[in-house]
Amino acid sequence: MIPISKPFIGEEEKRAVLEVLESGMLVQGPKAAKLEENFTAICSTQYAIATTSGTTALHVALLAHGIGPGDEVITTPFTFMASVNAILYVGARPVFVDIEEDSFNINPALMEAAITPKTKAILLVHLYGYPCNMDAIMEIARKYNLVVIEDACQAVGARFQGRPVGSFGTGCFSLYATKNIMAGEGGMITTNDPDFAQRCRMIRNHGMQRRYYHDMLGYNFRISDLHAAIGLAQTERLEHFTEVRKANAAFLNSHITRVKTPGVRPGYEHVWHQYTIRMEHGGDRDAAVKKLNEAGIGTGVFYPIPAYRQAHLVAMGFGYLSLPVTECMVNEVISLPVHPLLSQMDLETIVEGVNKL
Ligand SMILES: Cc1ncc(COP(=O)(O)O)c(C=O)c1O
Repeated sequence: MIPISKPFIGEEEKRAVLEVLESGMLVQGPKAAKLEENFTAICSTQYAIATTSGTTALHVALLAHGIGPGDEVITTPFTFMASVNAILYVGARPVFVDIEEDSFNINPALMEAAITPKTKAILLVHLYGYPCNMDAIMEIARKYNLVVIEDACQAVGARFQGRPVGSFGTGCFSLYATKNIMAGEGGMITTNDPDFAQRCRMIRNHGMQRRYYHDMLGYNFRISDLHAAIGLAQTERLEHFTEVRKANAAFLNSHITRVKTPGVRPGYEHVWHQYTIRMEHGGDRDAAVKKLNEAGIGTGVFYPIPAYRQAHLVAMGFGYLSLPVTECMVNEVISLPVHPLLSQMDLETIVEGVNKL
């Protein structure tokens, strides 16, 4: 089976982990510091703060912005649940806005109608590695004085009008094993605000600036240097990985004829964390997935259910919600392998399998 994702682990990653083990400096040492530095370069931001995961990056970002009980956060229901769970961790309320059909991302045209006096932030998601419409979103944020948190967990290296994601608002990234670059587990926050960066560092490490003096409630969200070492080696590979993902997506786009292929708007730089097609017009997605899998093609359904219909959100009273584009996409999307370890034969197998649907 051609896997839907596959981490690349080379000699540099192995050597870097051994180096850390031999150094005895296992947590938040020089590798974490260099990983942070490399992220400031990737995102063109002044500061980057490493955490244990994308989820904890989002959690810390919300806390450091002072978002909590009584606040509302506008977000997308078509995402990995961590985006929404982070809002719940801080006691705020997610307010779901429907997505755009062509980008799968939150629709800025529907945002203003969702803003109330309690709205404090927009938590958007650059889904599948495709940037949101940042012009429209930043304009709304400025007009209503809202914090912008970019869940860029799937989108490291993506750009909107030439500017890296994670540099518009507060960036949150994941270095989970299947991401475009990975550390096994890991996360990163990016920002240009020195005070905010300092708050993030403190929340990450039990509220400490000075050892054993706790100025605020914090957590242990420190990255281990073993993970940071892997992530650091991968940052050196990001450009190459992204080029291969783009080339793979271009091949699929130009050879798949039986279904509509994903387009990219001018000025949006997609980094193809996922390559996602749709079973439109009532096509049977389950049957298509079965056929593809039988042909040896791994698939993913990201995501089969809107966030507002997950059990804990239904229990909170969100069960009545039904946003039409989201409702449609959860039944239609199929992601195909696009990762950098695909061979030419793999790509041809994928094309042939899809064109037989
Ligand atoms: C959109 C999105 N947000 C948040 C996360 C959470 O990241 P992590 O798994 O590193 O906690 C992920 C990935 O898993 C994700 O895809």
